[in-house]
Amino acid sequence: MTSAPKTFRVKSFGCQMNVYDGERMAELLGANGMSAAGEGEDADLVVLNTCHIREKAAEKAYSDVGRLRREDGSKPLIALAGCVAQAEGAEAQKRSPMIDVIVGPQAYHRLPEMVAQAVRGGRPVDTDMPAISKFDAFPKRKRANPSSFLTIQEGCDKFCTYCVVPYTRGAEVSRPWGDIVAEAYELVETGAREVVLLGQNVNAWSEDGRGFADLIRELAQIDGLERIRYTTSHPADMTDALIAAHAEVGKLMPYLHLPVQSGSNRILKAMNRSHTVETYLATLAKMREARPDIALSGDFIVGFPGETEEDFTATLNLVDEVGYASAYSFKYSPRPGTPAATMEDQIAPEVMDERLQRLHERINTHQTAFNRATVGKETEVLIERKGRYPGQMIGRTPWLQSVHVETDAVPGDIVSVSLVSAGPNSLAGVIPAKAAA
Ligand code: 5AD
Ligand code: SF4
Repeated sequence: MTSAPKTFRVKSFGCQMNVYDGERMAELLGANGMSAAGEGEDADLVVLNTCHIREKAAEKAYSDVGRLRREDGSKPLIALAGCVAQAEGAEAQKRSPMIDVIVGPQAYHRLPEMVAQAVRGGRPVDTDMPAISKFDAFPKRKRANPSSFLTIQEGCDKFCTYCVVPYTRGAEVSRPWGDIVAEAYELVETGAREVVLLGQNVNAWSEDGRGFADLIRELAQIDGLERIRYTTSHPADMTDALIAAHAEVGKLMPYLHLPVQSGSNRILKAMNRSHTVETYLATLAKMREARPDIALSGDFIVGFPGETEEDFTATLNLVDEVGYASAYSFKYSPRPGTPAATMEDQIAPEVMDERLQRLHERINTHQTAFNRATVGKETEVLIERKGRYPGQMIGRTPWLQSVHVETDAVPGDIVSVSLVSAGPNSLAGVIPAKAAA
């Protein structure tokens, strides 16, 4: 028996969906009488909301658990949540006996009850994917960030051969229209100016013949909601209706994260991506026609089994052809249980390192070029938080660029900013009146 925890800390790793889930778990624990531990303060309960997408991320979960042991040898109650919890279940407790509770992403509504069980000496594990929705158990939103995440869809039916998501997050499920709209209103009423719609396959959202584009148009009707974004999309679900929404819905921001993974059709086939380089480029061309200023972003995997120098060169060429405003690249990481993990011709680590570096450099060049091209423009920036220096604030342009600006504006304000200089990852701006002075 331990005493019931009074304070908690939720630490989220991995994708934005984990960040969203982490916020909701914190609200749920709060509604059950616990309070968030202050910064630097020991928490009675620590929830590690983990990621399983690559081996490094998964290993991090265990080293983080180990680090929770206090100097006097005691430890907080530890709940392992997220995708490592889902993938490893009770095995995780065998590997790390410090873990008290194991709760998968579809069982978060049971967290308070499972913590109570652990207090009584139990070691509860729940990795079920029940038909009832965890969302129904979460309390109403009370305080929203200027830019807030809103999960509208979970899971994936695409089964790319490298990916754990279909196993950790299950089959594609769309949240009900009414629930999403209600949550968007709650977010706006409590401070959000922007919502970022989340899903592992967000653009596959559908309900009774209504699709993702219909949902966006509905959310755009909400007064006070100024910006709508979404992530992550699959190229196969980029419908003409969604592309048209980009042309017609002003609140839909000119930014699209559309992972491609490789520039080689041979590798795309081995990855079981249901698109080719050509169909991907055709989608981007339509998108650019609909919204000429759209900023494009993507994900890449280097060193997928069988990737030759020629395949990799095709990836570099694709990066040049698209001219990404930003992109993320990763070394292939074999994940247990996925088809690619047992494919022949796994690529040597040093080859992957070298390719990743070349790809980074290429992406960086385009990112910097994109940012520089916006210098001299005056644009609207949503202020999100304080910067490092007094009077400095940090916000984002419509193209998701991070901007540092000196202003009296507060988080949630949308202000006009002149962009004056740019690096690969952020820009500096000034309020135009100051620029004129
Ligand atoms: N190895 C490396 N990167 C991966 N991703 C997904 N699975 C793996 C893996 N096994 C990358 C993809 C995906 C992003 C979220 O993570 O690029 O789009
Ligand atoms: Fe990581 Fe994927 Fe789980 Fe997000 S859904 S936490 S990226 S494994």
